[in-house]
Amino acid sequence: MTPERKEIYDLAIREIRAVTAGEMDAIANMANASAILYERLPFSWIGFYRLVHDELVLGPFQGRVACVRIGPGRGVCGVAWERGETLSVSDVHAFPGHIACDPLSRSEVVVPLRAPDGRIWGVLDVDSREPNDFDGDDVEALEKIGRIIEDAAARDERFLAAALGG
Ligand code: SME
Repeated sequence: MTPERKEIYDLAIREIRAVTAGEMDAIANMANASAILYERLPFSWIGFYRLVHDELVLGPFQGRVACVRIGPGRGVCGVAWERGETLSVSDVHAFPGHIACDPLSRSEVVVPLRAPDGRIWGVLDVDSREPNDFDGDDVEALEKIGRIIEDAAARDERFLAAALGG
């Protein structure tokens, strides 16, 4: 990662911490986090999917209109959810089953988001129109951002109960 991008992540992380600290509504916090990331970083789509029954459903995001529902094992989001691990895909065209919401999208990182008990309630999805745009430092920074959103969501019991069924 370039020093410039690292600085931008550090700034975005500080802003997301500050803007989510005093607010317990998970949707509002995801909305502001996606706005901060989209404004600061050169990515084409940044947003969240959250569990509704047995599907990932589109949540707060910035970027072009996106597909609304993603089943388990479908696309990069569905595979990251099913495996319970962050996926970094350097060429989405080579990823079997990739869901092409934006045909210009070329690389992508998806970070699963968990409740304090370890159950996954959603994902952070970041897309770039540059091939191979994410390295290990991007993954680390995006996982750090995922942890901030997880902490924020853990304060919103109604949101977690709705996503996890109870
Ligand atoms: N690319 C994703 C679908 C969601 S959009 O890119 C916003 C995927 O294959 O999971």
